[in-house]
Amino acid sequence: MKNLFLFLIVLITIASCDSIDSTYNTFPEGEKDHTNSNFDKAKTKHLDWNAEINFDEKKINATAKWTFENKGTDELILDIKDIEVSKVVLADKEVEFEIRAVDSMGDALIIPIGKNDSTVEITYSAGGGVAIQWLAKEQTAGKKMPYLFTQCESIYARTLVPCQDAPANRITYNATVKVPTGMMAVMSAKNPKQKNAEGIYKFEMELPIVTYMIALAAGDIEYKAIDARSGVYTEPSMLAKCARELEDIPSMIAAAEKLGGPYPWGNYDVLVCPPSFPIGGMENPRLTFATPTIIAGDKSLVSLIAHELAHSWSGNLVTNSNWNDLWLNEGFTSYFEKRIMEEITDKDYTEMLWEIAYQDLQADLKDFKENKWNDTRLKVDLKNRHPEECFSAIPYDKGALFLRTLEETVGREKFDIWLSKYFAAHKFTPMNTGMAVKYMEENLDLQNADIDIQEWIFKPGLPEKTAYVFPKRFKKIDDATKTFLANPRNAESLNARSWSTHEWLYFLRKLPKPMETKTLRTLDASYALTGIGNSEIADEWYLQAIASKYERAYPAMEKFLKSVGRKKFLEPLYKELVKTEDGKKLAIRILDEAAPNYHPLAARKMRTIVK
Ligand code: BES
Ligand code: ZN
Repeated sequence: MKNLFLFLIVLITIASCDSIDSTYNTFPEGEKDHTNSNFDKAKTKHLDWNAEINFDEKKINATAKWTFENKGTDELILDIKDIEVSKVVLADKEVEFEIRAVDSMGDALIIPIGKNDSTVEITYSAGGGVAIQWLAKEQTAGKKMPYLFTQCESIYARTLVPCQDAPANRITYNATVKVPTGMMAVMSAKNPKQKNAEGIYKFEMELPIVTYMIALAAGDIEYKAIDARSGVYTEPSMLAKCARELEDIPSMIAAAEKLGGPYPWGNYDVLVCPPSFPIGGMENPRLTFATPTIIAGDKSLVSLIAHELAHSWSGNLVTNSNWNDLWLNEGFTSYFEKRIMEEITDKDYTEMLWEIAYQDLQADLKDFKENKWNDTRLKVDLKNRHPEECFSAIPYDKGALFLRTLEETVGREKFDIWLSKYFAAHKFTPMNTGMAVKYMEENLDLQNADIDIQEWIFKPGLPEKTAYVFPKRFKKIDDATKTFLANPRNAESLNARSWSTHEWLYFLRKLPKPMETKTLRTLDASYALTGIGNSEIADEWYLQAIASKYERAYPAMEKFLKSVGRKKFLEPLYKELVKTEDGKKLAIRILDEAAPNYHPLAARKMRTIVK
């Protein structure tokens, strides 16, 4: 019986491998926003990337050899931006090429091709593009070697390598990367576990990915295994601490596999980046890139890893075919993330995550009320707009709440079967909202169900009936807060030493703003909030400090703003600072001093706030 079972598994695996090749070439119509490429007519399939990283000049000198399929056209068009091309060789001969300026999102590299051509080699140099951040050695933990990391989602891969940069287009890649001696390079691929003396590293991603999932980092990076398929990459001084913090990854994968089916990518590792990493995490296949601000010392912020891991199914395996459909990546993942957390913690804990997300959603709905109400639809319209214009809690938290409401409407058992089928049936293929809705309507028993899918997806705002539940653990915080506010001289009455990060966040968000200095001092005296190492709590605390002009916290707040590059933390603090004249002066000075440490996108964004 057991043998028969194994035999069946092998058969299914073989059958599904076959289907990769036949299905990943197809893409739904109309998915060509945000790309200037012609992947529908001449489709790149495989990249052989040969790159040398020059830290002195901040340049990546590379050749990109693309294998493509000509479906009957006389030019191959790739997306390109902030890249200097020196040579294009088709088969064995050098050809003339054209770089046509299109818009601020990118240009087109146009290469004439013949009927029988199938490879092209582009020699180029990149370095100044948005995908790449160069760090001086002073900006790293060890301060010994410079560092580089990339962040290609949504449309920045085209600043790293000329490519057909559309989420409906999948490719495989191999790479050879040369870095200075003493460094290690890692990619979203099979990775080295040790440094080598030559500084030459080879990579392979043989499963079809989208160009936004291409990722590279290089620096004084080392590896520590957690188990046979998972481990942590980071700078040596952080390695032990990060490995401890992330030691639950294997149980997260086990929890995720229950919902998504077998983990499809082989290894799952995490690269903990230097603090200027501009976002929380990025689901680069096989190697999530993460901010060090999740290393709180008590595992309280690891749901971010659950999120990036969940993308191994929702996003990396089944990918939004278009940035209008980002909720299919982020909403499914935010839902999946909570299910993983429920499995490795418990329901009461997870309800807190849902509530914090619900608050974020309410805040953005309010924010969008006046000028961006249409962007509160799950399926958005990004025609002639940058994909990141619609980046908000809507795709994440409205998307997740929709799926939770759907789950509760049809029942968890049926929903879970549907979800795992959704992943299995669409793996390595692009997915759009229409296809997802159809798959829901055809495979979930919705005839008499009390849920209006069309309203959830195509209408702005939030439907009246949602699966919203107020968490038990926050009721206790409400009670404690009441007692405290009645007698603000006694912060001990809160009994907050055992609170989790989420209880703190809830408490701090609920406090009135401004508050009296005396009260804030009492809180500080009991719980040492100023200078706290937990970045989520620190961020909420400094928001209160600014609103209340609690200047005792300012030096620590300034240090926080200068040491952390995560946009999610920086943005609210700068916004709060600029509300007063004094605060604005302070914001200008801090930003001037901090900007060189920020990612170019983060610096640009903060400048729009502090002007
Ligand atoms: N895929 C996103 C990051 C992203 C989305 C980059 C769209 C560019 C465009 C990633 O999975 C993510 O959502 N990160 C969050 C953390 C998460 C726990 C909500 C972040 O960085 O804050
Ligand atoms: Zn995400």
